[in-house]
Amino acid sequence: MNDVIKNINNRVSLRRYKDKEISKEHLDIIIDSAIKAPTAGNMMMYSILKITDEKLKETLSETCDNQPFIKNAKVILIFLADMQKWYDYFKVCNVENIKSPGMNDFMLGVNDALIACQNAVIAAESLGIGSCYIGDIMENYEKHKALLNLPDYTFPAAMITLGYYPENIKRVYRDRFDKEYVVFDNGYKRLDEDELKNMFKRKEENMPKTNTHDANNFGELMYIRKTSADFSIEMDRSIKEGIKHFTK
Ligand SMILES: Cc1cc2nc3c(=O)[nH]c(=O)nc-3n(C[C@H](O)[C@H](O)[C@H](O)COP(=O)(O)O)c2cc1C
Repeated sequence: MNDVIKNINNRVSLRRYKDKEISKEHLDIIIDSAIKAPTAGNMMMYSILKITDEKLKETLSETCDNQPFIKNAKVILIFLADMQKWYDYFKVCNVENIKSPGMNDFMLGVNDALIACQNAVIAAESLGIGSCYIGDIMENYEKHKALLNLPDYTFPAAMITLGYYPENIKRVYRDRFDKEYVVFDNGYKRLDEDELKNMFKRKEENMPKTNTHDANNFGELMYIRKTSADFSIEMDRSIKEGIKHFTK
């Protein structure tokens, strides 16, 4: 196994960090690695917000579904899908009748942002710096817009916390679905009932014994969580609000 593959396999989401600032050299390497990621048409329709301000980290801890570990990260990176810079540049170039960015721009910007973000995650891992994605940055669109000074043609696609791995951390490797249920040869294969039961077998066996939702099985539990959790409902609302600017 070469070092890149080792890094990919060793990585876990890290939610506890060593009490040591991330060196400028390391942070520069992480950011430069993100910037080296491929982007659609090399347009780089994304921006990176580097968050080090303690107050801001604390606020994000609260607005991102009250996850206290977020504020303990040494650095937080937010990857925005960003068509604002191009839109403004088109204006600078006196382009006539500029249309507002569309859903194509939104999706490509999100793709660019996510791909760059994962480069940052892998680069960080190679330097002994752990990370954790925070999907909840897609919630509270209006609050985050005001907090981070986001213009209309941007959307926070991804956020990661960063910090060195503490000594003696026990890495917990989360189970993945077997490859046969994830990779399909030459076209999609709809899974039948037996295949679905096999796919979810390990998840069902490891289902928490005490579940607060009175669910009868794993599928029911996950469905209730996905559809009725406050954060889930808020994320759906928030993304629809953010997308509005791209659907005019
Ligand atoms: C898009 C995305 C959003 C996530 N959001 C959160 C989050 O808000 N809080 C958290 O603790 N972990 C979050 N995670 C981390 C996942 O829980 C984690 O990746 C998953 O359980 C697999 O574990 P592993 O990364 O250690 O392999 C997120 C991961 C992704 C990719």
